[in-house]
Amino acid sequence: MGRLENLNVPINVKQFANCIFLVDRVDILILTTCKNNTNVLFETDGIIKVINSLKGTWFNPEIVDSFNQVASLEAFWLGLENVDGNKESLSWVSQSGLQKIAFDDVKQLINIFSSIVDAKSSFTHDHSDGVGNLARYIGGCMNLSDIQCDKLEIAGLLHDIGKLRTPDDYLEKPSKLSDEEFSMLKQHSFDTYKILSTIEGLEDVALWASQHHEHIDGTGYPWHLKGNELALEAKILAVADCFQALAQNRPYRVALEPKEIISILRKEAKESHLDESIVGVVDAHLEGCWRASLINI
Ligand SMILES: [Fe+2]
Repeated sequence: MGRLENLNVPINVKQFANCIFLVDRVDILILTTCKNNTNVLFETDGIIKVINSLKGTWFNPEIVDSFNQVASLEAFWLGLENVDGNKESLSWVSQSGLQKIAFDDVKQLINIFSSIVDAKSSFTHDHSDGVGNLARYIGGCMNLSDIQCDKLEIAGLLHDIGKLRTPDDYLEKPSKLSDEEFSMLKQHSFDTYKILSTIEGLEDVALWASQHHEHIDGTGYPWHLKGNELALEAKILAVADCFQALAQNRPYRVALEPKEIISILRKEAKESHLDESIVGVVDAHLEGCWRASLINI
């Protein structure tokens, strides 16, 4: 738009140029609004407002409409974050070449990481262990193969690894998190993806683990995927995460009994947040699920 309008430039070139201009403005707005290290998700509404105020003047309306679509996804903003430490920190992994490791050895190693994550709060002790064990149990009830169940367990153990960046006091807070605190907490599932997707052989585990806050109706985060876009394993993990959290004390409530847990899960399925058929399987194996979720208690 603007000065390019009067030049004899092909329309697609004008549009590319305008798109780059918009992306550049977004980048500048992120840099200026997040300069006090605030979380980018806390600043997105303001940035979207600025871009839309320039729709039709600085920016082509169609490009702004496309921007609005991607800007509604947390994953879009979190993917722009300029943190590329993974490459350096993981470079040592490739030093000794690829090696086959037995599942039990992998699990021992993964248990170390999951214990570190769970130790961030007294309320989440053994949460990842419980989610991994329960996800495996549900997978078994649904006749998934041994390898699928192994991978489900690993995904459960690692689903919250992105919480290593979440301040500990958010997890202990007895009252509701502020909007800014919640935007920081929401970052953890995308961080889980960034960490796990760099490990060869864990590609599907990375996806399932990072989709544990997605909802069947697309209202979850960070990708807003719908039920038909989510793998069965990701949907099992979401149910297992919800179940295990309800079976444990939290700063704002005590641990719930199996009957109370299943009635909440049923409500979540009715509201198209959790998969109805998986909740049905949990309902049919309620006692076993409860025991599996509290593996170390
Ligand atoms: Fe989570």
